[in-house]
Amino acid sequence: MKILIVGSGGREHAIAWKIAQSPKAEKIYCAPGNAGIAEYAECVDIKAMEFDRLAAFAKEHEVDLTVVGMDDPLVGGIVDVFEAKGLRVFGPRKNAAILEGSKAFSKDLMKKYHIPTAAYENFDNAKDALAYLETAKFPIVLKADGLALGKGVLICNTLSEAQAGVREIMTDKKFGQAGNRMVIEEFMTGREVSVLTFVDGKTIRIMTSAQDHKRAGDGDTGLNTGGMGTFSPSPFYTKEIDAWCMEHIYQPTVDAMRAEGREFKGIIFFGLMLTADGPKVLEYNARFGDPETQVVLPRMKTDIVDVFNACVDGTLDQIELEFEDNAAVCVVLASDGYPVSYKKGYVIHGLDAFQGKDGYYVFHAGTAVSPEGVVTNGGRVLGVTAKGASLKEARANAYEAVKWIDFENKYFRHDIGKAIDEA
Ligand code: AMP
Ligand code: GLY
Repeated sequence: MKILIVGSGGREHAIAWKIAQSPKAEKIYCAPGNAGIAEYAECVDIKAMEFDRLAAFAKEHEVDLTVVGMDDPLVGGIVDVFEAKGLRVFGPRKNAAILEGSKAFSKDLMKKYHIPTAAYENFDNAKDALAYLETAKFPIVLKADGLALGKGVLICNTLSEAQAGVREIMTDKKFGQAGNRMVIEEFMTGREVSVLTFVDGKTIRIMTSAQDHKRAGDGDTGLNTGGMGTFSPSPFYTKEIDAWCMEHIYQPTVDAMRAEGREFKGIIFFGLMLTADGPKVLEYNARFGDPETQVVLPRMKTDIVDVFNACVDGTLDQIELEFEDNAAVCVVLASDGYPVSYKKGYVIHGLDAFQGKDGYYVFHAGTAVSPEGVVTNGGRVLGVTAKGASLKEARANAYEAVKWIDFENKYFRHDIGKAIDEA
């Protein structure tokens, strides 16, 4: 098969690597791709939001399957555009990608179908939101309704912080149109777990669990980022919790979407919080997580092309996913200053050290090719993943491999997977 991947980050690199393992993949394209993806795929200079150009490329090159990695094109309806042209594509249609595209929608869905989540109210104007805050309990959580690069969530400890937050989101439009509506919800405490799943409209299959580290600094300090590192599996996500979530969260979500006439095919990424009252949904995403994918896919034994096809065809019930009985840790190497401002264009040394080393991976997130070699080209630059027999071993291996890479302004967290020690 000829396969086109849409996206350009560490997640898409991991997807490209995994697809390349499949004997069914004869040719891989990636639009727009990056310097690391180029090892497995022919990178095509078309941006992820240029749906018509992407579809025309897929037609012209007789692409058999397109896999969309990113949220923006999915929420924008890329799948509908491809399907209308008779092209085979893995991902939710626009009317299903709304599960990630609108937090107000997903909260209302959960309420209607009794799926456990934080108590909340939706607002479409600042005046009502501000009035509601007067009687609210703190801390409280404010969320811009739409996509905001993972930055549209504000945790506010006081009334005045929350008032300022409402103005930022709804009046100043700090997150753009994403702030036309907002959710105000109860603050929950507990451990966070990311659970990635494949869905074919009816059947859902769970991948292994993972945990992200969203804050920029050690000890969960500093600003929220796209994710600074992950480990998989989460030792806090037990078989019992998995079974409970299947009955009360996963299958009910798939059934709810179908009942609403919004059949979901693709990836549902459940962001969960394990609270004292049981697991609750923090958020839904309609795509693979980044950098969760960089620890989940290296542990997956099943041929991913078979799974993509089963999702598109509605035959996922015939697939059993298999994962290795080991662990993986990913440490993100970022440019110092991320997520605010940072310099780009520094030469990256040491990428060759990963050649031929089983169980070690360097996934490119923000890199580019220059006459001097591969250079930094983003806030998150690389994801260094290592496997190990245990989480502790995987963590030690990942931090060892972090030393192989050198570039100016290299920044990373030193405590990815520290939570493992409490398990
Ligand atoms: P989200 O984009 O909805 O996953 O939110 C980003 C992060 O904000 C989550 O990973 C949590 O750490 C935090 N968060 C979101 N909602 C809540 C909540 N209701 N209570 C506590 N923390 C939350
Ligand atoms: N790592 C979190 C996300 O992909 O949204």
